[in-house]
Amino acid sequence: MNLDELSAGAQAELAMLHTARQLEAFRIKYLGARGLLKEAGDHLRAIAPEQKREYGRKLNETKRAIQAGFEAAREAVAARSPELSTVIDITEPGRIRTEQYSPGTLHPVNQTIDDLTDLFARMGFSIADGPELEDEFHNFEALNVPPHHPARDPLENFYLERPAGAAPYMLRSQTSSVQIRIMENRRPPIRIVAPGRVYRPDTVDATHSWMFHQLEGLVVDRDITMIDLKTCIVQFARGFFGTDVKTRFRPSFFPFTEPSAEFDVLFHYPDGSARWMELGGCGMVDPNVLAMVKIDPEIYTGFAFGLGVERVAMRRHGVDDIRAFYENDVRFLRQF
Ligand code: DAH
Repeated sequence: MNLDELSAGAQAELAMLHTARQLEAFRIKYLGARGLLKEAGDHLRAIAPEQKREYGRKLNETKRAIQAGFEAAREAVAARSPELSTVIDITEPGRIRTEQYSPGTLHPVNQTIDDLTDLFARMGFSIADGPELEDEFHNFEALNVPPHHPARDPLENFYLERPAGAAPYMLRSQTSSVQIRIMENRRPPIRIVAPGRVYRPDTVDATHSWMFHQLEGLVVDRDITMIDLKTCIVQFARGFFGTDVKTRFRPSFFPFTEPSAEFDVLFHYPDGSARWMELGGCGMVDPNVLAMVKIDPEIYTGFAFGLGVERVAMRRHGVDDIRAFYENDVRFLRQF
């Protein structure tokens, strides 16, 4: 390729550039990734060794001259039509000016729910939900909680005011109600997690609130055993808190599982101490519960678990007062 001709051609064209469009066409033709200068550079390979040095020198010179000429032409065009000096690239991603707009972020409790459900989804669970307004059948009866069980005490629950004789309704006190909703409508194999709000008229303090979140899990299939339950919980804890996390199961009691357990994880504190923290309850689905939703307990078994979302979120972010999550103080929320 003759560099003198290339250079002369470019200078002639530069003299005739008047618009942004012409500038861009020139840039593509000479300076673009597949432009003439690139081509001239590739040509170096085909040149006799003794001429390489001279060709290379001249190529650099030509490049510099064309580049300089182009910059000058661009400035000249911009000076004549200032509106062209800022070229708007409509393909560029938007920039959020946080000093002007505050788009917000997901609430830390919702972030925790998202992370929990993401992890369970990777473990093969699908996400389910159910109503926050429940009847006693789904919140208690079908879960094998007998009529005079202390958990059903009106003082322990938010019952709705109803006309005399009407069926009672309540704000659900546990996401376990979703287990029933799911099993009423689906046959095994079932493998779901259900995050959501629950309500209890507890006195509000650093660890109690009248509304909080749980994440319920339910697996029903043939041949599900306690080993599956423990494996699932341990896998979850490792996935969420790190592979070196220590877990522990303690025997417990829930009306809807038999046997039942509570599971803890060992947390290490900055001062070097470590304490077990209870994450939730779990167990093998009681055969009475399966029978209630017409799943044959002779054929199917299952396990269930329920964990407290705020507990996880508090531990994760070092928040020591649950009330911080509900006060909507932007100085708190902006940290997440
Ligand atoms: N529903 C229980 C509670 O609110 C937690 C729980 C315990 C859920 C055991 C379960 C379970 O699914 O198997 O305290």
